[in-house]
Amino acid sequence: MLELEKISKIIIANWKLHGSIEFAKEYLEKLTFVRSDNEKSLVVCAPSTLIQNLKTDKFYLGAQDCSNYSSGAYTGEISSELLKEIGCSFCIVGHSERRNIFKEDHKLILEKIKKLINSKIIPIFCIGENLQQMKENLTNDVLKNQIHKSLPKNLDLSKVIIAYEPVWSIGTGLIPSVEQIEKTHNFIKQNIFNSSKIKVVYGGSVKASNYKKIIDLDSVDGLLVGGASINSDEFNKIVEF
Ligand code: PGA
Repeated sequence: MLELEKISKIIIANWKLHGSIEFAKEYLEKLTFVRSDNEKSLVVCAPSTLIQNLKTDKFYLGAQDCSNYSSGAYTGEISSELLKEIGCSFCIVGHSERRNIFKEDHKLILEKIKKLINSKIIPIFCIGENLQQMKENLTNDVLKNQIHKSLPKNLDLSKVIIAYEPVWSIGTGLIPSVEQIEKTHNFIKQNIFNSSKIKVVYGGSVKASNYKKIIDLDSVDGLLVGGASINSDEFNKIVEF
C-alpha cells in the first residue's frame, strides 16, 4: 500500500460523471504534471469504465465509489477488489452527492471504507456540513459525528485521507475564508484525531484563481477538485502547486 506519510501535498481530481474514452486520451496528452517524486502527488478519480484508459506514470488512479459487498448477486455493483485489479490506489467514499442523491448513510460508508482498506486502497473519505448546519454553527459537531460513525475503530491513520468538503461550497463558487478552512482542518486534526499525522484535504469550488492560498495553508494537505479538474487549462494551473 502506498505510503501516505511520504506525500507532503496531494491533489485529487474528481471527474464525477464526466468524460469519455476520447476525453481521457486528450487529458493524458494535455496534462503537464509530472510525478517527479512522492512529495507532491496527483490522483485522478474518473468514472470506473475510464480508469484503465488513464494508466500513466504521471498520477495515481482513483475511483469515485465502491460496493460494500465483495461479490455475489448485487447487480450493478463494483467491488474494491475489482478496482484494485485495474490499478486503483485510491477511492472517494461518502461524497455528499452519494449521501444526498443516493441516500448513503454512515453505516454503509463504514462498510465501504472497510472493504477499501482490506483491498489496500486508500479511502478518500468525504465529510462536510450543509448550509443550514453551517449557519447554526454545527460544523464541528457534524464532522465529528461523520468521522465517528464511519471510520473503523483502531484505524491506521496513514491509510486514509479525510476530504473536508462543505456541502454548500461544492459546485457553487462559494468557499469558506482561509482562516475558516485552517480552523476547521486544525479542529479535525487536533480535536477529532488528536494527531497531526492524519491527511486532511479541502474540497469545494477550488479553481486556478483560489487554489494557491488554500493549498499553502499548513493544515491543508491537499485539494479535492471537481469542476476545475475536467478543464485541462484550468487544471494545469492548479497542478503547478
Ligand atoms: P467542485 O466539486 O470543485 O466542483 O466544487 C468538488 C467535489 O465535489 O469533490
